[in-house]
This record gives sequence, structure tokens and C-alpha cells, in this order.
Amino acid sequence: MLNSKKTKKVTQIDPDNIPSHVAIIMDGNGRWAKKRYLPRIAGHKQGMETVKTITKTASHMGIKVLTLYAFSTENWKRPKDEVSYIMSLPGAFFDKFVPELIENNVSVRVMGMTEQLPKQTLAAVNKAVEQTSHCTGMILNFALNYGARMEITNAVKEIALAAANHEIDPVDIDENMIADHLMTAFLGDLADPDLLIRTSGEERISNFLLWQIAYSEFIFSETLWPDFDADTFEKLVIEYQGRHRRFGGLEKESKK
Ligand code: IPE
Ligand code: IPE
Ligand code: MG
Repeated sequence: MLNSKKTKKVTQIDPDNIPSHVAIIMDGNGRWAKKRYLPRIAGHKQGMETVKTITKTASHMGIKVLTLYAFSTENWKRPKDEVSYIMSLPGAFFDKFVPELIENNVSVRVMGMTEQLPKQTLAAVNKAVEQTSHCTGMILNFALNYGARMEITNAVKEIALAAANHEIDPVDIDENMIADHLMTAFLGDLADPDLLIRTSGEERISNFLLWQIAYSEFIFSETLWPDFDADTFEKLVIEYQGRHRRFGGLEKESKK
């Protein structure tokens, strides 16, 4: 029985096995532009079009949380012009896209060291969060100035402070308490991605969701983010559906 299942060629998405939380490291914007003799920022601009497409595809598919890695705590190392262009993107993007998000019942969230973002960037993001706060469908979660080591460091700091203030007993520190201090805490049971995709052929995590990906399925796609489309995304979801998740147990054991 196991064998027949393994050899079965699946070409359609199984609606009963949609990953609840998909996280994407959107990579390859710069290389996409370079291939076309364009400045790197042209790749970031085109990448925003992919964000729109994949958001709608994911929402129609029934995905509950789509987390997109948009800017890392290490990306400040890039040339000033590139950083300021990236920081200007949310303004124009959300103005046009929010009505479509509302139409699709998608709510925007952001996680990261947002206090370090330029004022206008933060204002644009917060506005989109507010405008979509009544939407009850998919959560579109942007990781913006996000870094997992910083996230874990802050969680440790908060827990240590609570212990020093005798609000908690250190013997009570457990995995749930740590998860509750991470930036994904607001996602509750959906905090851990089922599927993590990185585009552009790079096979590394680059400081993304280090705690939360303990049992995620990884797919590394060769496609550069601006070229990534609904069809490619659907194929990767089908690939995910062919995986056997065990969570340390045996075949067919469920997560919860
Ligand atoms: C991803 O594309 C976007 C960000 C990191 C902001 P890159 O800009 O990293 O593109 P490559 O990796 O240089 O091609
Ligand atoms: C990871 O991509 C960060 C984002 C996609 C936002 P990078 O392009 O910054 O990662 P490295 O430098 O190749 O590891
Ligand atoms: Mg890159």
C-alpha cells in the first residue's frame, strides 16, 4: 500500500492537505534584474508583483498564513540607495493592493524590529494592517527587518527579566513559554510553518524563523522571485503534499 502511494503521480492539489502556514524567503530579485541589465531595484519592483500574485493564489488555495521574508536584520548592509528603495516599496504597494486584499478577506500583519524602520515605511505598513484588521481570511505576514537570532535574543531577555522580577520561576520555562515570547506568538497554533520555500536556488535559511522551522518541510526552488508564479507555487504545494511528515514519530502520525 505504501509503495502504490509512493509511485502515484500527483498532478492536482489535494484540498484536504493544504499547508496551513507557508513561509517564503523571497530571493533573487537582484539577479533577475542583472540578467536584464537593469538596476537591482527593478528586481525589487517586479518582486512586489509576485507578492500580489502569490498572495491571491495562496488565499484561494485555503492557506491560512503566508509569511514573506521581505527584509532581514542583515539587509541594512546593502548600499543606501537600495535600502531606501526597498523601504519606499510598502507605501506605493499597499495603496494599490489593500482594496484587493480586502476583497480577498486577507489581513496584513508585520513582524520584525519595526521600531527601526523609517517612519514612512512603518506608517504605510501600519495603515495596511489597520485597513485589513477586519479581514478574517488568510493572514499575510510580512517579516520586515526580521532576524531570528534577534527574535530569540529578545525572548530570552524578556523571560530572564520576568524571572529576575520573580514573575516567573525559571523551572517553569518550557517550549510554550519561549514560543509565546517570539514574534509569531500572535499566530497561536499556526506559528510554525508547514512549508518553507526559498526561491533563487540558494539553499540556506539566512536567519529566518530558526525556532519555528524545527519540523517544516523545505523546498528550494531555482526560480528567481520575480519569475515565480501561481503555477510554480502550485507545483511546490503538490511536492509538499507528497512528503511524509513524521514529527519524530512513525508514518501517518499527526502533528497534534
Ligand atoms: C531578495 O532578493 C530581496 C531582499 C533580500 C530584500 P535579493 O535582493 O537578495 O536578490 P539577489 O539574491 O541579490 O539576487
Ligand atoms: C534573505 O535573502 C533575506 C530576504 C529574502 C529578505 P538575502 O539575499 O539577504 O540572503 P543571503 O545574504 O543570500 O544569505
Ligand atoms: Mg539574495
